[in-house]
Amino acid sequence: MVSSLGGRALHPQVQRVLLALTIPLDLLQMVKARMMLAMNKGLNRQTHAQATVKMLPTYICSTPNGTGRTAQPGGRFPQLSDNTFDMPEDLMQGTGEALFDFIAQCVRQFLGDGCHSKERLPLGFVFPFSCRQTRLDKAELISWSKGFSCSDVEGKDVVQLLQLAINKQEVGELEVVALMNDTVGTMMTCSTREIPCEVALIVDKGTNSCFMADVQHVQTVEETRGRMCVNTEWGCFGDDGALDDILTPYDQHVDEESSNPGVKRFEKLVGSLYLGDVVRHALIALAAEKALFIGSNVTVLGTKGVLTTQQVVEIISSKEGMTKARMTLEALGLRPSERDCCRMQQVCRAVVSRSAALCAAGLAAILSLIRQSRGLERLMINVAVDGELYHGMPHVQLDTVTRLLAPECLVNLKLSEDGTGRGAAMVTAVALRLADQRREVNQLLAPLRLTRADLERVQALMRQEMDLGLGRETNANASVRMLPTYVRGTPDGTERGEFLALDLGGTNFRVLAVRVAEKGIQIASQIYVIPTNIMQGTGEALFDHIVDCIMDFQMKQDLKGRVLPLGFTFSFPCKQLGLDKAVLLNWTKGFSASDCVGKDVVQLLREAAQRKQVEKALNVVAVVNDTVGTMMSCGYEDPECEIGLIVGTGTNACYMEEMQNVGTVEGEQGRMCINMEWGAFGDNGCLDHLFTEFDQMVDEKTINPGKQRFEKLISGMYLGEIVRHILLALVEKGILFQDKACPTLQNRDIFKTKFLSTIEIDGLALTKVQAILWDLELQANFEECSLVREVCQTVSLRAAQLCAAGLAAVVEKMRENRGLGQLAVTVGVDGTLYKMHPCFSEHLQQTLQDLAPNCAVTFLLSEDGSGKGAALVAAVAVCGAES
Ligand code: BG6
Ligand code: GLC
Repeated sequence: MVSSLGGRALHPQVQRVLLALTIPLDLLQMVKARMMLAMNKGLNRQTHAQATVKMLPTYICSTPNGTGRTAQPGGRFPQLSDNTFDMPEDLMQGTGEALFDFIAQCVRQFLGDGCHSKERLPLGFVFPFSCRQTRLDKAELISWSKGFSCSDVEGKDVVQLLQLAINKQEVGELEVVALMNDTVGTMMTCSTREIPCEVALIVDKGTNSCFMADVQHVQTVEETRGRMCVNTEWGCFGDDGALDDILTPYDQHVDEESSNPGVKRFEKLVGSLYLGDVVRHALIALAAEKALFIGSNVTVLGTKGVLTTQQVVEIISSKEGMTKARMTLEALGLRPSERDCCRMQQVCRAVVSRSAALCAAGLAAILSLIRQSRGLERLMINVAVDGELYHGMPHVQLDTVTRLLAPECLVNLKLSEDGTGRGAAMVTAVALRLADQRREVNQLLAPLRLTRADLERVQALMRQEMDLGLGRETNANASVRMLPTYVRGTPDGTERGEFLALDLGGTNFRVLAVRVAEKGIQIASQIYVIPTNIMQGTGEALFDHIVDCIMDFQMKQDLKGRVLPLGFTFSFPCKQLGLDKAVLLNWTKGFSASDCVGKDVVQLLREAAQRKQVEKALNVVAVVNDTVGTMMSCGYEDPECEIGLIVGTGTNACYMEEMQNVGTVEGEQGRMCINMEWGAFGDNGCLDHLFTEFDQMVDEKTINPGKQRFEKLISGMYLGEIVRHILLALVEKGILFQDKACPTLQNRDIFKTKFLSTIEIDGLALTKVQAILWDLELQANFEECSLVREVCQTVSLRAAQLCAAGLAAVVEKMRENRGLGQLAVTVGVDGTLYKMHPCFSEHLQQTLQDLAPNCAVTFLLSEDGSGKGAALVAAVAVCGAES
């Protein structure tokens, strides 16, 4: 309120100026409400881009006395030594490089002899400008303020710029591990055991604040639980006009004179960089209206900066304020009267009080936001305050106005004592722990991260093994068997008839009835379970079970009494002696039924039929691998489909090879489909350099150790296990699930590959990941959830890349075979991992394109499994026999 001073009535002009600079309580309430609105806009994902108050995430997730993260790992920080360096004025507008070089030189000087230490020295960087942070050690400068405008820094990662400058100075092993806003550093220093400090306020050259927000309200980050410190960057509040009704003509002049007109409107009403000039413009206006300095030449007041905020503060606060006013004015060459000094003091008071009141409105907005989001009736909170202007400003006013505007909050304003330094050290210590952890994680995962050169080598090795496998002399020593299938062509559309099909060896065992007609293919099918005891029991029991299933199916489909030709997808490595003769070479994928290896599986099926006295009901005409079934099935849709690929429980591929290259079969004409059995690639040791300790552990625990080594890096039966072993290693290193028991993780196969498919879904909230882990009795926090996700991503990416390297060898060989510069070919593909994983197929295709740029490869997903393909092969066999 404007009062009269010393009994003298106020001059009307003076009264007008003071009124303009005074914000009544009801308007302050509105400012608070608008601030809350602006803050919510900044927190909201949809409106964030347009928001004036940016509410930037800082990636600081707890305060020092909270549990966990900032529990000072290196003990307390009792000793602080510091040094202040004067910064040459011209640096502020020079090049970014010069600025960072200067900082690095200061650091070097500060460290003195210590700068040659070989010990790693972590550095926390308090950088009080608006930055978009994506990690503690990654912060892109959004825009300069407070008179800084160094070139080539905006839009760049400031941490990196500083690190580069430091590296140039060769300052030992100094590493920038955390960057934080000054508000954050301040907040960190003011917590007490009883009441956490969760808000900080800086009133200095500029003004800003930060607070611990509930993460679910910070929609610009992925985390959804816990708290994160948000740097409000409230200096820009009002840049959209929200403060227009309180701006005075003096504020407009100050803004126009600034290096950034139109922006940081709130800061220009509050920060010490501006208050002196606001007072100056008010004095100019009063002088023009003859309310001040009558008879004096006031031109000097036209110069920006002649009146400093420091002086303004002295004029209002010290007992000798009036004397200070006189001295200040006289120093400017003015000859003030007693009344001039008194009026100037009133203006100064009004400007500083307004600054305090606006800060209070902002602070009240933060407090109300916190209280609301936590659903509290009353909020008790410590607020750290720092900044030169705050030290000079009437605290009582900030305190009182805040209480008036947020009466439900019990605020304890605490003056930060050692500035941001101690807070920065605390954050740095945490960052250091995280950085150490990151280093360990990287080290652990490094062998799983393949370079392009690694993949090229795999491709070349695969090609080499393919050639060995095809050669008559070399076949016996090749890990890739390259089995002839006696399938000589893909479907041509003329195939007709009704068939039975069996599909054994994937996730499901299916029996199918397939009708191939002119109008298309109709399929009826049923899934039957093969219990583990049968998979791993006797061969007789397995084939008896299969025959039982066929009989059951025939009955249900009303096919009893009809003898349909049968195509058998048998997805295991077989030496094919003809289309309907296939000798099992070995079991894979967890099967181990006795007395089958070395026998013709068609014969085993017939014998089982005999045992059941239904041999007349069965007419097996073709046995195919699932890759072949898939290729044929897709070939029916697309004649360019000459490759079959499976990435499911197991992995394998087949393709059309030139007969002249197939040394293991007589004849030179035409082509034959080759079942590569690439799952065994590397079983001769040629991939040993790739296997990690985790792969070894997984392999050792399988029923076929040392076998199917390539498959064990890629397919669904094993990826979950690889992840589990990596997680166990992380637990052992104390990086994951610290201090929490996780006995379930010891259980084999507990971590299913389908979890990878869910966990890796793009944009899946970490709470969902957490729920999956909690189901496994793993009490993961968010940091841990994202680590688990990273492990999954690393494992599945490697699988996709290896698969691509294998496929690159295949397509490149086909291209060479045909003497083509460019090959266009389609891959028919099936398998749960390929179908269900959110990014496997994309990674596979990308890597393939990179490794085989001269091949245009199309991927065609097999729709109804490989049974259809087996039926088509049967159709060709039947037609061939008839003709
Ligand atoms: C099915 C095919 O769709 O995919 C099978 O019909 C094949 O023949 C299987 O073995 C492979 O995938 P998975 O994930 O079931 O092993
Ligand atoms: C295994 C089998 C192979 C099959 C593949 C995909 O690798 O040995 O025959 O094609 O799994 O199911």
